[in-house]
Amino acid sequence: MSNSFRKNCIVLHESCTTALDRSDSVPRIDLSFLDPPFNQDKAYNAWADNLPPEEYWEWMHGICAKVYALTSDGGAIYFMQREKNTEFVLQCLRDTGWTFQNLIIWKKKTSAVPGMKRFGKHYQVIAFATKGKTPRVFHRLRIDPPLPADYKHARENGMFVTDVWDDIRELTSGYFAGDEALRDVEGNRLHKQQTPIQLLLRIILSSTNPGDVVLDPFAGSGTTLVVAEQLGRKSVGIELDSHNVTLIQNRLAERRKSDEVSRFFKDYACTPDLESIWGEHGLNGKFASSDGLTAKQMAFLQSD
Ligand SMILES: C[S@@+](CC[C@H](N)C(=O)[O-])C[C@H]1O[C@@H](n2cnc3c(N)ncnc32)[C@H](O)[C@@H]1O
Repeated sequence: MSNSFRKNCIVLHESCTTALDRSDSVPRIDLSFLDPPFNQDKAYNAWADNLPPEEYWEWMHGICAKVYALTSDGGAIYFMQREKNTEFVLQCLRDTGWTFQNLIIWKKKTSAVPGMKRFGKHYQVIAFATKGKTPRVFHRLRIDPPLPADYKHARENGMFVTDVWDDIRELTSGYFAGDEALRDVEGNRLHKQQTPIQLLLRIILSSTNPGDVVLDPFAGSGTTLVVAEQLGRKSVGIELDSHNVTLIQNRLAERRKSDEVSRFFKDYACTPDLESIWGEHGLNGKFASSDGLTAKQMAFLQSD
């Protein structure tokens, strides 16, 4: 399996631990989305998901530090984790220089994971932080979710997105995952940790402009890259498992209807300047045609 290049998107088949070390030639990164294995003994082909906790968090520290070094001033990181690890995530980001902005609660739509001696768990956390106090880009998106039952008056122009995201459906197992989940011919899921495109859509729209560079060091099934490409953002995805690299390449090569982000444009219609945030090419439903990656970046990526 080799690295692959599209006009505005690079997929590296490698461990992010080593790939991120070549800091002299990696493109400047404006936004990173970190969705690492959560170290909860899940079955991954290429990764032992049961490291001793100290080792796991030391690894995460290393990744956050490397990403920080590659990020432009004011650039953003969104680090997703289980809620029980919140204190470690925040510490990891603080220790590696990031400035905390929000702890986003991504509330799940399926029923909570029951607890016998504590409350059931119903959300995942996404820590949003920036390099320096002031984000280089932050678009205040507006949405117009259904009114709670006891509201008297309809909203005139929607509301700003808050730090509680309860309007994005997770891709859980079984029928609920719907069309968006990648499956083989028998209907089995191809990547059980696949993130919904709506989550990446919100993150990328909030923290980048068209033409910016997005990094996903744990690219999985390539959700970040698929969304970035449609919005005219450049992207770099790193993935260790060759099966997943093939999955990403296929997903990028042939856009599935269920991966099209244009259908969510209306959800953000109350946002001022939405057309320019979304990007002309995203609006046309075409691939980005901005400058592409520089020769230096391509040369780095082609070297072994
Ligand atoms: C939670 S999944 C990411 C899912 C992804 N957000 C998606 O939408 O498909 C984590 C991914 O990290 C990959 N991985 C594990 N260790 C890695 C490493 N050292 N470098 C790069 N990828 C790694 C796993 O193979 C897995 O696909």
